[in-house]
Amino acid sequence: MNITLIGTGYVGLVSGIMMSYLGHNVICLDKDRVKIDKLNKAILPIYEPHLDQYLTESLKQEKIKFTYDYDEASKNVDAVFVTVGTPSKLSGEANLEYVYTAIDEISRYLNKNCLLIIKSTVPPTSCDKIISYLAEKNIFSLVAANPEFLREGNAIEDFLNPDRIVIGVSNEESSKILKKIYAPLLKKNIPLLITNLVTAELIKYASNSFLATKIAYINEMANLCEKTGANIHDLSYGMGLDKRIGDKFLKTGPGFGGSCFPKDILALNKIVKDYEANCLILEAVINSNEKRPFDIVNKISFILGEDLQNKNIAILGLTYKAGTDDIRSSPAIMIIKILLSKGANIRASDPLGIIHANEHLEDKNLLYFDSTVEACNGADAVIIATEWPEFTKLNWEKIYTKVKLPIIIDLRNILNARLIKEIGFEYYNIGTKIR
Ligand code: UDX
Repeated sequence: MNITLIGTGYVGLVSGIMMSYLGHNVICLDKDRVKIDKLNKAILPIYEPHLDQYLTESLKQEKIKFTYDYDEASKNVDAVFVTVGTPSKLSGEANLEYVYTAIDEISRYLNKNCLLIIKSTVPPTSCDKIISYLAEKNIFSLVAANPEFLREGNAIEDFLNPDRIVIGVSNEESSKILKKIYAPLLKKNIPLLITNLVTAELIKYASNSFLATKIAYINEMANLCEKTGANIHDLSYGMGLDKRIGDKFLKTGPGFGGSCFPKDILALNKIVKDYEANCLILEAVINSNEKRPFDIVNKISFILGEDLQNKNIAILGLTYKAGTDDIRSSPAIMIIKILLSKGANIRASDPLGIIHANEHLEDKNLLYFDSTVEACNGADAVIIATEWPEFTKLNWEKIYTKVKLPIIIDLRNILNARLIKEIGFEYYNIGTKIR
């Protein structure tokens, strides 16, 4: 099939490249010419393991093209995916400006044989509104919703073997086209849910908000473990063994971040309010996660002594999770900002996140280091903020000789406490009583 994707952000690129791998003829369109020129030379603007190999192969096979020209992107097209961003407005509401700009641009090429598929995360009833919007312009294209559930760092596996494919449609023709697009995956018996437009739109928000709730819940339980002396690892394991609960998304940490969870839960909360449908849980989860970096800094202050002025703090990890270079809504960045506001000197390191962090956050008291060991030099405390496996393999004996005070605060519970203590460090993690 001939498929066009508008927007070469994370979702558009992964989806486009992987659809070309499934055998479709794909054109990815973006208004950013520099990005497009680079993509045509197989240079990716994002980090996603192995995606470059898929891109190189598809370019070689001429299954994918990148363009900023709508004319070129719209010739004989069977399906157009909208994959632009829907960032939060100040109110929390999703901003659909880019979605409508894309629709305006492509609308003159649409017809009743072409399916317009909204993959961007949009609030319930958006697709119905898009259908009316197009109808006002006398355009009667088919419109479908097809939310994505790709995780950064795991996106290729998530695309090829998703837990489910969700499609929202208002007629049989639309589902036929989507089934054709996903045929190679459906052959593998990947569950397909065909529902109406508004339900598909809401499934995305409800899923992400539920996962965010699980994380906020386990983080609150970790706080309780710190007070009662219960063991968070065993608590989480014991809960997860119950198949009704499941063992996923029960890892405690510095809070959830990334480009989806914080934005989607805010948007769902706004939707709930707009519909005057009570959902007290969402507000609690938002508050819990927003408060989390402050709780973490309080913990650091408690361990180091109230005054953080001029304390040298090494922060290992800047990205919101391991396996990505993305620092959007990263708890590590929020923790750094709070520590800086309290007068601490920060020495930060990350395997992939330094470039983005540097663009986003500059301060005279903040230094970035490519070498993790160097970041720990003279530190009053070493904080592990992201669960990079590299950090478990560091030469901690060497780091012990470099730090000013041998204190490690492991916000991801990834280090072996016994081994670290044997070296001579004081070791603190999340969910363990301090003293
Ligand atoms: C998420 C959704 O999982 C995906 O389906 C959606 O399409 C986009 O948003 P992603 O942002 O890539 O994907 O990250 P994910 O792995 O889900 O983690 C989100 C946040 O939760 C991270 O900050 C992570 O550190 C945190 N997390 C996750 C925990 O704190 N504990 C856990 O047990 C799991």
